[in-house]
Amino acid sequence: MMKAVAVTPGTPNSVHLTEIPEPSLDQIPHGRGVLVKTLKVGVDATDREINEALYGKAPEGDDFLVIGHESFGIVEAVGENVHRVKPGDYVTATVRRPGGSIYDLIGTNDMTSEEEYYERGINLRHGFMTEKFVDDEEYIVRVPEGLKHLHVLQEPMSCAAKAVQQAFEAQQRMKIWRPEVAYVFGAGQIGLLTTLILKLRGLKVYTLARGKAPNLKAEIVAGMEAEYVSTRETPLESLVKKTGKPDLIVDATGSSTLAFQAMQHVGHNGVVVWTSITGGNNSIEIPSDSVNLHWVLGNKLLLGSVNANRTHFESGIRDLALGDMMFPGVLKKILTNPVQGMENYQEMMRLLVEDKDALKVYVDIA
Ligand code: BGC
Ligand code: ZN
Repeated sequence: MMKAVAVTPGTPNSVHLTEIPEPSLDQIPHGRGVLVKTLKVGVDATDREINEALYGKAPEGDDFLVIGHESFGIVEAVGENVHRVKPGDYVTATVRRPGGSIYDLIGTNDMTSEEEYYERGINLRHGFMTEKFVDDEEYIVRVPEGLKHLHVLQEPMSCAAKAVQQAFEAQQRMKIWRPEVAYVFGAGQIGLLTTLILKLRGLKVYTLARGKAPNLKAEIVAGMEAEYVSTRETPLESLVKKTGKPDLIVDATGSSTLAFQAMQHVGHNGVVVWTSITGGNNSIEIPSDSVNLHWVLGNKLLLGSVNANRTHFESGIRDLALGDMMFPGVLKKILTNPVQGMENYQEMMRLLVEDKDALKVYVDIA
């Protein structure tokens, strides 16, 4: 048996330490299994909301869900038909597992057209906050040794990579699209990693958050040569006056109010990307006539983006590598709050819920 951190879906604040059987290679058919020793697991707002019982389901037949979807580990053993990784390699794992739609059948599980989705550590599949896990090599992505100091950032980076890539792909509707100015709403992990990707693509990037500089988020944004904007000091309207309307807005605030606000500021032919999962029940009034009017007159596009497939993990890893060389030492600063061992799961949740300065909470497992 081995230790794991789990919740009882449907019961608020049920996070607890438990024991589950150790996984083994022969759980995965055709010699394609990869057995991974977990080194670190990151947590984010999704884990907080799962613990609040806002969503998350146990796998069929179980009444608990092992949490943890941001994995980083080292390969311990591989089946005889595995060729992508070998024992001793650092790896992360994708999160979504296939359902039955055509998108699932071609490896784009992140685009499933089925209502139900399967995500390790989130929905209907156990997660990675355990001592070991096993999976098909299809879902295991190698992390270069030179990036091991950025460990749990690979999964959030994959989500940012997908969001930006989707925006650029969708904008091919313009035939020619040369975005110059981007706003990123939110300077949490997704906001900061999106800032990086857009900088690497040569855009002028403004990253907006509430807090006044100096603070850590502002320091990281400046370190990536983007501009940090405190909305306490500079209201959105004055920023738009200064920069002109942006070509692209990525919302990563976790606030649906701000997500809708973005729609009032994007420029003609522009695109707004929503990345936040808002598990609550908020509702707001919006100037719908005006948004509708300008949206139509400006040929604007609204895009939702969730999760990521293997290709986004791979491109995210390439951008993390490039970003780490371009802006040495900056990305590491995102990893603010390590928690020592799974036994300290209460401290992990406390940091997630209460500590507004905890940019990234992760558990050191081994
Ligand atoms: C995860 C994604 C997942 C999404 C919805 C996010 O926190 O990083 O991989 O698809 O939650 O469950
Ligand atoms: Zn997440």
